[in-house]
Amino acid sequence: MSKGKCKKCEEKCGKGKASPEVLSQLELGYEKLFKSDSPSMLKRFLIKEMFDKLKFKKTSFGSTLLDCIQSGLENLDSGIGVYAADPECYSVFADLFDQIIQEYHTFSPSARQPPTDWGPSNAFGNLDPTGQFVVSTRVRCCRTLKGFPLNPCMTEDHYKEIENLMQPTFSNLSGELKGTYNPLVGMPKDVQQKLIDDHYLFKEGDRFLQAANACRFWPTGRGIYFNAKKSFLVWICEEDHLRIMSMQPGGNVGEVFGRMVNGVKEIQKNNEFVASDRFGYLTFCPTNLGTTIRASVHIKVPKLAGDMTKFKDLADKYHLQIRGAAGEHSESKDGVYDLSNKRRLGLTEYQCMKEMYDGITEIIKAEKAKK
Ligand code: ARG
Repeated sequence: MSKGKCKKCEEKCGKGKASPEVLSQLELGYEKLFKSDSPSMLKRFLIKEMFDKLKFKKTSFGSTLLDCIQSGLENLDSGIGVYAADPECYSVFADLFDQIIQEYHTFSPSARQPPTDWGPSNAFGNLDPTGQFVVSTRVRCCRTLKGFPLNPCMTEDHYKEIENLMQPTFSNLSGELKGTYNPLVGMPKDVQQKLIDDHYLFKEGDRFLQAANACRFWPTGRGIYFNAKKSFLVWICEEDHLRIMSMQPGGNVGEVFGRMVNGVKEIQKNNEFVASDRFGYLTFCPTNLGTTIRASVHIKVPKLAGDMTKFKDLADKYHLQIRGAAGEHSESKDGVYDLSNKRRLGLTEYQCMKEMYDGITEIIKAEKAKK
């Protein structure tokens, strides 16, 4: 990525060190975090020595430790609490990021992301042919476009440029992927809400992203592309530049994954993505690095849900993450849970998918066996 002459830098930067204003905000925030009982990795890993070392640093984009941790400082209920305000943050603030990445993905500081491997095209079948448990399946990946900074350093023009840049790519998509782009600007509120309720569109006003400075100039440049069946979708400029996803009712992981892979390959023909040797595809949040794949099912497991300790133990054993059906930070409704692979870095795309597929297979077995 080209070194940023971002607007923020031009306005605030100056020398290569955090300003007194940033330092005092950091000190205040740190004190509050330290006294809190926040469950976040930020709280656990940012010990005083590390804080005192990192608080002066600044990347060439002008990002400071505050830019990376302010979401976790403002939202003490964060699970992680940290975002990379620009790609350099992963190295400049590596002391902090490496620990989070190691724990979240079980990826050691000396490990490297393997090259992309989507695996054989017929590797996955239907998780639940009788349709008793799996309501729907969704696979997504994230991409950062070369030549653009990450959210906190983006100008209003960057958002517009990305949206414009994607239009020829979208018009070229054909067959099953053919669809329309729907910008958030000008979208009637009821249409937007229906897309959110039906689990197609990102929510508005995510307080974790807002505090991370990721929602500036909203809704400029944000939007969603989808095909007629809404089984192939691309989000523009939400948390990442691109979120490419495929979804459909039922448990046919093979079909869902295959469609996403086709979509990614098509989009890649006209666009270059940011990747690093060590972390694979670069994303705004350290939980999404590597393959960036989150493969999930909405699943009904009423018996397991009645024994949350067992359910959570099983999920941990198979590296699955449990969420509510309305997405991240939501509660389960009507006993439907969102289960997905937790690790995305240090594995190939195929291995990520397999981790989810095998894990869900075991979850279904356990649900059937439970009295
Ligand atoms: N920052 C939020 C937290 O720490 C979200 C983390 C992972 N999710 C994401 N959408 N990047 O809880």
